[in-house]
Amino acid sequence: MTNLLRKLLFSLFISPSQVLGADESPGLPMVINTWGGAFTVATDAAYLSLLEAETSALDAVEIGCATCEEAQCDGTVGYGGSPDENCETTLDAMIMDGTTMKSGAVAALRRVKNAIGVARYVLEYTTHTLLAGDLATQFAIQNGFVEESLTTTESAARCEVWKQAGCQPNYRINVLPNATESCGPYVPIPLNATSPTYPFLIAPGAKTASHDTISLIAISASGTMAAGTSTNGASGKVPGRVGDGPITGSGSYVDGEVGGCGATGDGDVMMRFLPCYQAVESLRRGMTPSEAAEDAVRRMVRKYPGVASGIVVVDNQGRHGGAGSGWNFTYAYRGGNMEETVVVTVLPVEEDKSAEL
Ligand SMILES: *[C@@H]1O[C@H](CO)[C@@H](O)[C@H](O)[C@H]1NC(C)=O
Ligand SMILES: *[C@@H]1O[C@H](CO)[C@@H](O)[C@H](O)[C@H]1NC(C)=O
Ligand SMILES: *[C@@H]1O[C@H](CO)[C@@H](O)[C@H](O)[C@H]1NC(C)=O
Repeated sequence: MTNLLRKLLFSLFISPSQVLGADESPGLPMVINTWGGAFTVATDAAYLSLLEAETSALDAVEIGCATCEEAQCDGTVGYGGSPDENCETTLDAMIMDGTTMKSGAVAALRRVKNAIGVARYVLEYTTHTLLAGDLATQFAIQNGFVEESLTTTESAARCEVWKQAGCQPNYRINVLPNATESCGPYVPIPLNATSPTYPFLIAPGAKTASHDTISLIAISASGTMAAGTSTNGASGKVPGRVGDGPITGSGSYVDGEVGGCGATGDGDVMMRFLPCYQAVESLRRGMTPSEAAEDAVRRMVRKYPGVASGIVVVDNQGRHGGAGSGWNFTYAYRGGNMEETVVVTVLPVEEDKSAEL
């Protein structure tokens, strides 16, 4: 088949937007988030909250993400998931107001379960954007959040299994002993001009990890918007690692004048591209939500063909679309008078089209 014919067939029959009737709106209010399955508890909780007139879009985002934190959606949001090399779970979260563009976030939050709640406190009780680590924990405790262990029997057991398997998958490079085979402690190999280079490396565990982040966008009945993200990161990560989740414009982004975006996937790669900022700006410049999502994914795939990513984009009227790479990405939405949440499956973008950017 010629390239041209294949492209024609692709655009006619297999383009996700054609098959799934995307870029349409169910009406307002509306909630849309990364992933179906376990994550639809968040869609439902946030959507139902918006049916009460006094609930703001910010409230709905917090309610949706907190629902996943409590339900430990897929083991990748909230406590008891993704233990790091020391077997500790740490949390990243962010919430953004689409009217003021102010965002509040916590990174590598320790010993506090409700990360999105602490992010909301950063938003509303400081003029800062991002607090990190143990000092973010202190801020949370000062504001009445409970300090408690985030480790569960399951996460401790999972960490033991990881250690028994030689600490694989592993995120360190250029160390001895060889991190693709052995646990630490590690020492760095001195690097020089002839050393193997790091560009375009993708973490070996990134794609095997399951759904890993909830990113959710809410539009109130009056059309105000907010977005947020919550995650416990990547299993076996180097302690201190922070992913794309709490980074404004990466994990999520919203400008109520235009629309919003939520992302999931290999955060270490994705945060280099600010895909949600890119997608919202593409909306502003006239792309449809599906086109904006696909463009943001292709920018990453062009440099990192193996990257696992998923982007969901919605404009301020509730028209939505998604794109992903490396896996079948799903997103969930509920709006207008919908009786239940609908889950949309988005097939990975074709790699050969990425060269055309
Ligand atoms: C580590 O082991 C892998 C697989 O055995 C090998 O490809 C790689 O070159 C090794 N790295 C170093 C720094 O020795
Ligand atoms: C450069 O580093 C490699 C290990 O990465 C080492 O084998 C080699 O001897 C070094 N070369 C020089 C000139 O130091
Ligand atoms: C994605 O979905 C397609 C169509 O349903 C299916 O053929 C394919 O095996 C799926 N891929 C993965 C990685 O699950």
